[in-house]
Amino acid sequence: MSRTSLSRFLIEQQRKAGTLPPDLRHLIETVARACKAISHSVNKGALAGILGEAGTGNVQGEAQKKLDVIANDVLLEANEWGGNLAAMASEEMELPYSIPDGLPRGRYLMLFDPLDGSSNIDVNISVGTIFSVLECDESVTGHPTEADFLQPGTRQVAAGYTVYGPQTMLVLTFGNGVYGFTLDRENGSFVLTHPEMKIPESTGEFAINMSNMRHWEAPVQRYVGELLAGKTGPLAKDYNMRWVASMVAEVHRILVRGGVFMYPKDARNPAKPGKLRLMYEGNPMAFIVEQAGGMATNGHQRILDIQPAALHERVAVFLGSKEEVARVTAYHN
Ligand code: AHG
Ligand code: MN
Ligand code: MN
Ligand code: MN
Repeated sequence: MSRTSLSRFLIEQQRKAGTLPPDLRHLIETVARACKAISHSVNKGALAGILGEAGTGNVQGEAQKKLDVIANDVLLEANEWGGNLAAMASEEMELPYSIPDGLPRGRYLMLFDPLDGSSNIDVNISVGTIFSVLECDESVTGHPTEADFLQPGTRQVAAGYTVYGPQTMLVLTFGNGVYGFTLDRENGSFVLTHPEMKIPESTGEFAINMSNMRHWEAPVQRYVGELLAGKTGPLAKDYNMRWVASMVAEVHRILVRGGVFMYPKDARNPAKPGKLRLMYEGNPMAFIVEQAGGMATNGHQRILDIQPAALHERVAVFLGSKEEVARVTAYHN
C-alpha cells in the first residue's frame, strides 16, 4: 500500500501552482512536530506526573492544568526558532509572544489553543490542539502587537487541529479542502488517512451542554426544544445527543459523520457573547468546517466575517451540518 505522509502531501500541495508557499509548508511541519511531542506527553499522563492542576490561572480566569502549560511551552519552543513566524498568541498568554530579537522572524502570525478540552485530561478523555495562521501585515517591521492579530477569520491562510484520542489525528486546511492525517507511532509520521473530508448536509445528531439550557436565549431554547421533540415535533425526526466537552473531539466527530455543535451565549454572563474564544477556537474551526462543506455562525452572522476587537474575544458558536446551522441561525435573525 502506498502511503502519503504529511511531508509528501505538503510538498505536493506546494508544487500545485500557488496553493502552498514553502514557508507556510515549513511552518505546518513544525506545528505537526510540536503536536507529536504534545501527543507523547498526553499519552504518558500520570506516568510522567503531568496530570492535575498547574496551580496558576490564565487571562480567561481559568485554572491552568499542567498540560495546558506544557503544551503551550512546546508550541512556543518548537516555533520560535523556525523562522516562519513574526509572533504567536495563545489562550494561555495574555499578550502576544513576539519572536525574540536575534532569531529570524517570518511573515506569519499564529494563534493557538494549546490544549483544548483540558477539563478532560485527568479523566483520560480526548483533548486537542487548535491553531490558526494569519499573515502579518508587510508594514510591520518591529515586534507585532495585539492589533496586528485582529484580522477576521476570512484572512486565515491555514488552520488545523490535532485530536489526542484513541488515535492522534491532525486535520488541516489551507482553503482548498480538509485533509486528515493519522499519527503512525511506529515510524513517527502523520499519514494521510482522511482525504477531502466532507460534512454531510443533514444530520440527526447534536452537541450542546444541556445543563445550561435555562440560561440560553429564546432562539436556542426554541431550536433545541424542537430537536428534543423528535419525530412528533416540528422537525419530524428523532435526534441523538453527544457532549464530550472537548471542542476538538466534537468537531472531529462532526467532520467524520455530521452533526451540529453549539456553544451559545449565556444569560449568566450578559457581557460575554459566549464561552469559546473567537481567534483560536471559533475561527480555525469555522474555516475547517466551511472547507468541509459545513457552516459556522455566531447565530447572526458567519464567524469568519467577524472583525475581532480583542485577542481573547469570545464568540457564540453554531457549527456543523449546513441544514441545522442554517435553521438555528434563521431562528436568531
Ligand atoms: P479549553 O479547555 O481550551 O479551555 O476549552 C474548553 C471548551 C471546549 O473545548 C468545550 O467545548 C467547552 O469548553 C466545554 O465546556 P463545558 O465545560 O461548559 O461543557
Ligand atoms: Mn482553557
Ligand atoms: Mn479550547
Ligand atoms: Mn485550551
